[in-house]
Amino acid sequence: MAISLLNQVYVRPISVQDTPKVVNFKKELENETDYLVFNMKDSPNSFNKERNNIIQFTLFSNYLYLGAFVDDTLGGLLLFRGGKSPRNKHIGELGIGIKKEYWGHGIGKKLIAELFKWCVDNSIKKVTLKVRKDNTRAIALYQKLGFKCEAIKIGFIQGSSEPFEFLIMVKTFN
Ligand SMILES: CC(C)(COP(=O)(O)OP(=O)(O)OC[C@H]1O[C@@H](n2cnc3c(N)ncnc32)[C@H](O)[C@@H]1OP(=O)(O)O)[C@@H](O)C(=O)NCCC(=O)NCCS
Repeated sequence: MAISLLNQVYVRPISVQDTPKVVNFKKELENETDYLVFNMKDSPNSFNKERNNIIQFTLFSNYLYLGAFVDDTLGGLLLFRGGKSPRNKHIGELGIGIKKEYWGHGIGKKLIAELFKWCVDNSIKKVTLKVRKDNTRAIALYQKLGFKCEAIKIGFIQGSSEPFEFLIMVKTFN
């Protein structure tokens, strides 16, 4: 089952033509998970804002915005932004989200594997990410792909009753 779905998954960079799909995807994901670091309620999304966001990703050689499409449906997004200064342009931060109906089919792993290939080709030396300490599914995936915990951030984001702890995880390339 998982293998056959993954065979239908096509990973490619997001382009401005994908804007409506990305806007809908983000709205749906927001309702499906509480694990996103920043959510749409903090920063309401719109067609124009997302379109500009996608354009931003095309302007920097150390930015990457990937979509995983299941046939024509956008099933997952991966964002990577490298630093702006010459001193940190080789380091960047990863964000990822998969539509809930596709969790556990290997799409997250496939997107991150594409990012790693791109990092090697584009002289990126370190990928960082923030993950809620109780997001066991995501942490298991990151550890499997070689991420290590570098630090713990306490009170980084306020939940409905108490602040969440976040792990800072990193993957380095030679
Ligand atoms: C976390 C997330 C990106 C994982 O994507 P995914 O496509 O479901 O992950 P994959 O199917 O590629 O799973 C890869 C690995 O994750 C782990 N995993 C998958 N399902 C799991 C589960 N139910 N419990 C624990 N670990 C699990 C396994 O180690 C798995 O490897 P395996 O298939 O070799 O056993 C996805 O669940 C998601 O978008 N969650 C909501 C948003 C989110 O948490 N984003 C990350 C914020 S830091």
